[in-house]
Amino acid sequence: MHQRSVQTILRNRLRRLQSRQNASVEDFPRSSLVIRRLKSTSSPADAPVAPGFIFDIDGVLKIGEKVLPQGHKALQILSGDNKLSRRFPFILVTNGGGISEEERCYKLSRELGIELSVDQLIQSHTVFREQAKNFGDKPILIVGGTGHSCREVARSYGFKKVYTPHDLLAWRQELWPFKSLTENDEKSVQRVDFSQVPFSAIFVFHDSRDWGFDTQIMLDVLMSPDGTVTTWRDPEAEWTQQVPVFFSNPDLLWGNDWPEPRLGQGAFQEAFRAVWRRTSGRELEATTGGKPTKLTYQHAERLLLAQANHPDILPPGGRQVQKLGPTFMIGDNPFSDIAGANAYGLSSILVRTGVFRGKDNHAEHPATTVQPDVLAAVRWALKKELGEDIV
Ligand code: G3P
Ligand code: MG
Repeated sequence: MHQRSVQTILRNRLRRLQSRQNASVEDFPRSSLVIRRLKSTSSPADAPVAPGFIFDIDGVLKIGEKVLPQGHKALQILSGDNKLSRRFPFILVTNGGGISEEERCYKLSRELGIELSVDQLIQSHTVFREQAKNFGDKPILIVGGTGHSCREVARSYGFKKVYTPHDLLAWRQELWPFKSLTENDEKSVQRVDFSQVPFSAIFVFHDSRDWGFDTQIMLDVLMSPDGTVTTWRDPEAEWTQQVPVFFSNPDLLWGNDWPEPRLGQGAFQEAFRAVWRRTSGRELEATTGGKPTKLTYQHAERLLLAQANHPDILPPGGRQVQKLGPTFMIGDNPFSDIAGANAYGLSSILVRTGVFRGKDNHAEHPATTVQPDVLAAVRWALKKELGEDIV
């Protein structure tokens, strides 16, 4: 597709996303539903509520850049390609991010061959949108991701004064003399006198691309009594941390196409906590989003419920439901996907295509069942709920 038309589609989708803070049945446009092409089957009005599915992405639907054929098939089955021509609500919940929900949806739709709506996707930083109420008009430091894409994401959430470590380096090279801005960085940095900018919060949107540099700048902001980087507290004196810190996910490890798991944002958090402890003599106070936190699972429940109540999914004459039917979280990471699902009272299915490769169930966070891959997981869940294999 021509580059310009892709950008136009993304821009239009972004506008729709920005106008939608919380999904409800009304907010869920018929045209955005992947299942809209299929006619409802003849489930009676008092039929049990259809099972719903939450999919992790990395290590479940995708391995690195490659889409697993089992993932493609599993989503097709839930979209109506089954013996009953029946559709089932599903959403994708990833601890990844770094781009807008609109852009991720557009990419995933093309990769998976399924038209996804933004109301079917939660990224790790999606829950940061709520914080625009508190910090929308105040300066914030955002960390992580490639280039300046997270600044755009933060702005789309309603944060108006968004700065990155690169902006600070453009102001004073001495802040981190080991790094030079690239030509591209030079074009997109904000040129500001940071002695006059009291940061009100730090948001780690995505994986740090330069741990040392990001650690230094976060430390500068946190050690300041008023959030400006030109002042530095005495660690020996009495004080408490003024600037709140938000991490978008706690994943120590994640799975891609390398045979062993890779370090994630949780590893950066561990490293930063250790540096902070040694420098300030205090424990870092921080809030972490993404899986396994309740905040992310609550949001997932809202989106799934809105989908379950949409006319295209409700059986003919079916009643609106206030509560979800049986819900299955399919993930590869026991510490995020499975721990979160178990704590939230969902059924959990651990697959062996990503972080987890164990023979038996995970000892600390055992899933309801362990299956070889996402297709086996969906078939297992459907058979359990419907009593027959509908594939
Ligand atoms: O934490 C890294 C992230 O890419 C993991 O993504 O989809 O497995 O939650 P996911
Ligand atoms: Mg995963």
